[in-house]
Amino acid sequence: MKLPKSVNILDTTLRDGEQAPGVVFTVDEKIQIAQRLDKIGVNSIEVGFPRVSDAEKVSARVIKDLGLNANIYGLSRVLKEDIDALIDSDLSYMHTFIGTSKLHRDYKLKMSKEEILEKAVYAIEYGKDHGISVEFSAEDATRTEEDYLMDVYKAAESAGANILNVPDTVGILFPSAIKELITKIKENIKIPISIHCHNDFGLAVANSLMAIESGASQVHLTINGIGERAGNASLEEFVVALNIAYGYENLKIDTTQLFNLSEFVSKLTGIKIPINKPIVGGNAFAHESGIHVHGVLENTATYEPISPEMVGHTRKIALGKHTGANSLKSKLNEYNIEVDQKQFNQIYNQIKTLGDKGKTITDADLKAIAITTLGKANKESIKLLGLTVISGDTVSATATVKLSIDGKVEERSEIGVGPVDATLKAISKLVKGYIDVDLEEYNIDAITGGTDALAEVFVITSDSEGNKATGRSTQEDVILASVDAILNSINKIIAIK
Ligand code: KIV
Ligand code: ZN
Repeated sequence: MKLPKSVNILDTTLRDGEQAPGVVFTVDEKIQIAQRLDKIGVNSIEVGFPRVSDAEKVSARVIKDLGLNANIYGLSRVLKEDIDALIDSDLSYMHTFIGTSKLHRDYKLKMSKEEILEKAVYAIEYGKDHGISVEFSAEDATRTEEDYLMDVYKAAESAGANILNVPDTVGILFPSAIKELITKIKENIKIPISIHCHNDFGLAVANSLMAIESGASQVHLTINGIGERAGNASLEEFVVALNIAYGYENLKIDTTQLFNLSEFVSKLTGIKIPINKPIVGGNAFAHESGIHVHGVLENTATYEPISPEMVGHTRKIALGKHTGANSLKSKLNEYNIEVDQKQFNQIYNQIKTLGDKGKTITDADLKAIAITTLGKANKESIKLLGLTVISGDTVSATATVKLSIDGKVEERSEIGVGPVDATLKAISKLVKGYIDVDLEEYNIDAITGGTDALAEVFVITSDSEGNKATGRSTQEDVILASVDAILNSINKIIAIK
């Protein structure tokens, strides 16, 4: 297979990614993401759409002023005002677009083919006259009549465009159709061709790879594949597939930062990474079944086509219904938990019983099971001695908590947004000198109906060394259930240490 000598990556997390419903980056967040993208080695970063707001202009200008290695692009329609906003932001790279399909012409733009072509040429020439490097997109290219699309692209090339981008705006094409289209464009056009795939049918990465295979030399990608609707082609999946599946070695991307970057973007956007997402999902390098774990423990390549180290992720041996004794042994070793054969069998049976009930046993669960089996959990280092809560519509929720911490009595009051928040704040401050804990997860469920319903609280806490433990309590009083669950989990962490 003949692949282009160099494949350029234009990351559009900050533009198309930000068009994902609910995603808005602050200027500072845009700066941080741009710096990280530049550090991993992407060639170009589309930082936003300067015409849409002052914040967009500011972030574009500030990112440009950082002097990154990547080319900093701004988006613009084929309008003078949009291009002027981009020039005002001091950008030297413009991605300008206009819809070309019949749907866009008739319903969105209400323009004839000739008008659209004229406007595209005008924008490209206007940008070039201002010393700007221009990438032109025929929006909805993949639903545009082929002859007309070629006319538009030829006119754009003649007007001086530097790159022509082919957006599969609604992710409608399948790989063999992408191949045909890119091959045809390459026959008619001399300047570099770029591809921009949306993921409506889950084909964005496959289509982007096919475009490269067919002669495109630039690809638009986003971290975690975020973007309009089902998103864009995901950067981490594309980069690793091109490298491993295609054996392409010319990409200059530092793949070891992909997991970190993915987590960072997920945290800023609030869009959780699906557990089974390739490369960066929580299960991407997890093995549960005895047969797989046995293979991986002998030679990771048996069930890992990609090494977790390559992308900065970690291998996980998960425990559950399919767990074999080898997996459990390796897990217990990992946590330096020493057990005799009888204790091992007890832990193993408990994991199988929970697994049969459909539960995946997390590391925190395993530690909790081991602690109980080894009899350590009975040692309660921290005990509740007293709790008073004041709450109402005219007072700030205040909790006064009295604890015995390793035999020493400590008391503290805290204010919170509600009584549970105030109580948990007081506990975390009281235990701070003793153990630094973070509340990672807090879930509450009413397990019976009515105002006297039993509340079930489930928490996960962690300490600064990464030890985690679960805590659970069921009581009629929500606050007492919360305190009990949290102390239960903190005591487990102390028992592990
Ligand atoms: O998907 C699309 O068509 C776009 C354009 C702005 C190129 O994002
Ligand atoms: Zn798009």
